[in-house]
Amino acid sequence: MRQVVLPVIGTVAAWRREARALAAAGVSPEQVAWCVGEGEHDLFAQNPVSTGIPREIRLSKAALQTIDSALCHSDPERFARAYATVLRLSNGNVRWGDRSDQAIRRILADAKAVGRDIHKMHAFVRFRELPADGPRRAFAAWFEPEHPIVEAATPFFAKRFGDMDWVITTPTVTATFLDGKLSFSQTRAHDRPPEDATEDLWRTYYASIFNPARLMVSAMQSEMPKKYWKNLPEARLIPDLIRKAPRRAVEMRDAMPTDPPARRAAVARSMLEREVSAPEAGSLDELREAAAGCTGCPLHGPATQTVFGEGPVDAPLMIVGEQPGDQEDLAGRPFVGPAGQEFDMAAQAAGLDRSLIYVTNAVKHFKFVPRGKRRIHQRPNVSEIEHCRWWLNLERRLIQPQLIVAMGASACASLTGSGTGILKRRGSVEPGPEGTPVLVTLHPSHILRLPDDLAKARARADLQADLERARSLMEAAAA
Ligand code: URA
Repeated sequence: MRQVVLPVIGTVAAWRREARALAAAGVSPEQVAWCVGEGEHDLFAQNPVSTGIPREIRLSKAALQTIDSALCHSDPERFARAYATVLRLSNGNVRWGDRSDQAIRRILADAKAVGRDIHKMHAFVRFRELPADGPRRAFAAWFEPEHPIVEAATPFFAKRFGDMDWVITTPTVTATFLDGKLSFSQTRAHDRPPEDATEDLWRTYYASIFNPARLMVSAMQSEMPKKYWKNLPEARLIPDLIRKAPRRAVEMRDAMPTDPPARRAAVARSMLEREVSAPEAGSLDELREAAAGCTGCPLHGPATQTVFGEGPVDAPLMIVGEQPGDQEDLAGRPFVGPAGQEFDMAAQAAGLDRSLIYVTNAVKHFKFVPRGKRRIHQRPNVSEIEHCRWWLNLERRLIQPQLIVAMGASACASLTGSGTGILKRRGSVEPGPEGTPVLVTLHPSHILRLPDDLAKARARADLQADLERARSLMEAAAA
């Protein structure tokens, strides 16, 4: 029996190295005992093999990514299972994606659990500001993930909070981001933050900035499972805040400045009214029904009806377009007109089944100007996108997709905060709301506007390629 002790930091990369060396040395899975750091050692184990000539184990990208994710699970058997599976895959004894194979099924399930844990970390880490001497602001957070995901999850924070210094401490690993450089270390016992008066101060602060008009109980509870509450300073306040929210919302409305800039005041007022009167959004049907009566912005007036999203509530993939067009407005369904046909063709060619996808728009009413008998599409403006983001957020929180494809500038603006530079961003995966990844692509309607067949064919191929990418990302995260 050979013992392989993997380091706590860089575990996955070390496993890869060791697995290659063991495979090259012809070591069978039964001969290897794996552990991390100072885990329980096999007393009869020999020293690790790490000097064999690495043999290239050929695996698909999807298999490699999924195995890497599964290696971030806390199951102690994950290393042995991954090693045995890699050997079987490279010997051709099993095919990647074969769900009748118990080990592959388990790897897929572990990778999915890890993905969920990463998503929760992105959503629930709460930073406290620290006194800083230099020009950069400094923050610290404590978080307890279910799995050892710190190295996989924290590059997201580096991207999002790249202009600050911060440290995220977990029970095992601490991520430190200093002057734009992310590094990891093992957490020492005294790194755990004390539950002292500073925490109380923080909580008081949270209570004062807490906006009850934005409180939606069911969405909040589904996004913030109770097990995470203990690490959220604000969590102790939640039951009380939920109880007082309607009254405080009215107080806030009454306390609003009487003469703020007109547009902002109108937006704030209508959002406040809608949120206070909103349903608890327990189901998609309830949400659709509530959205049908939305009068939150002027677009509802001329439009025939609200065109809400459609698709399965457990869809792993969510597609977001701009707004319904003429035909969608009449049919009451998204993407059924000419742009919808382009989308359907590209999706089908990319191997996506529309009946398994949730399809919706950033804005739920058709915006147009009448010209003779025709209604000419108008781009929604920032304020209209802003208003409707509330519905999109509720849809997203119910569906909880693993990936969102944002088609066009309006969808990008709603989901990532920026709708500019879309040509350069095409094909990139960006952090979206509450950590959900957003794949950026162009809107299918631009294909319809292109002047010649060659340009159309290219644009169709691009859209198909982006949707193929979405499919392979989904498969990699799949279970
Ligand atoms: N364009 C969109 O963005 N959405 C639709 O539903 C139709 C056309």
